[in-house]
Amino acid sequence: MPVIRCAVVGSPIRHSRSPLIHRLFAEQFGLALRYDKREVAAGGLAAVAAALAAEGLRGINVTIPLKEEAWVLATRRTARAAAARAANVLSFEADGGIEADNTDGVGVVRDLLGHGVTLAGRCILVLGAGGAARGIVPALLEAGARRLLVANRTATRAAELVREFAALGNIDMLPLDGRCDEAVDLLVNATSAGLTSMTPPPVPAGALAPGTVCYDLVYGSGETSFLRWARLQGVTIRIDGLGMLVRQAAVAFERWHGLVPTTDPVTKALRRRL
Ligand code: ATR
Repeated sequence: MPVIRCAVVGSPIRHSRSPLIHRLFAEQFGLALRYDKREVAAGGLAAVAAALAAEGLRGINVTIPLKEEAWVLATRRTARAAAARAANVLSFEADGGIEADNTDGVGVVRDLLGHGVTLAGRCILVLGAGGAARGIVPALLEAGARRLLVANRTATRAAELVREFAALGNIDMLPLDGRCDEAVDLLVNATSAGLTSMTPPPVPAGALAPGTVCYDLVYGSGETSFLRWARLQGVTIRIDGLGMLVRQAAVAFERWHGLVPTTDPVTKALRRRL
């Protein structure tokens, strides 16, 4: 059986869990897969993607800081990638084309639903307006959110994001130091605050109620700073981004290999190794 090849590119890439996730998925089907990781700095994606496509790779996952470059490089885009203006999956097609997809949003939605969290009819507050927020906001609106609020340190970025996705549903911005006029059902941290320091991002007053679900796109070996903050506020349902990481990878795996992997055992295996 010929070995299928895929890879993940970005910087820093050393600690990427994607090779392990894809290997564990491949084992579920006895698929002969070689999945590499490649350090690629900003500005370097086009040359590397061309080389990898020429080597016969089926596709690549793209991570920080290349998601916008990946979007630009693509010759076609799925609707959700087009909306996000950022891509985390590139597929090299037989005709030489490159298809961009963004599976971050579907990853979050599936993970939340998998945890029994309802999204339809809910009020959701997203903290952050960067690339991560762009990927998930359209998916949350499409999942039926009744109201989606965006709060960001730089208000102009939140305003821009809100303007861009206004056609998809009821979306509005909120100053980080402002007051929420209703407690939200779901509070999502899509900032990078917890990645770089142990200080969680500020949260608008009035947003939290004991029943609010707190979801952090960040994950780590211990509790994230945002989820620690949520626990100290009395929030009982707190979910980190590991499940989302595995689920967004599953969508890419399905796109490349036409096989639907089981995600829960892979998330558990990863959790043990963090
Ligand atoms: P990503 O692609 O991971 O979203 P990004 O585009 O650099 O990365 O966006 C990072 C997000 O985290 C932004 O919303 C950023 O706020 P600004 O738009 O004001 O820069 C937010 N962020 C980063 N550090 C933060 C902090 N210490 N407190 C609050 N928000 C922070």
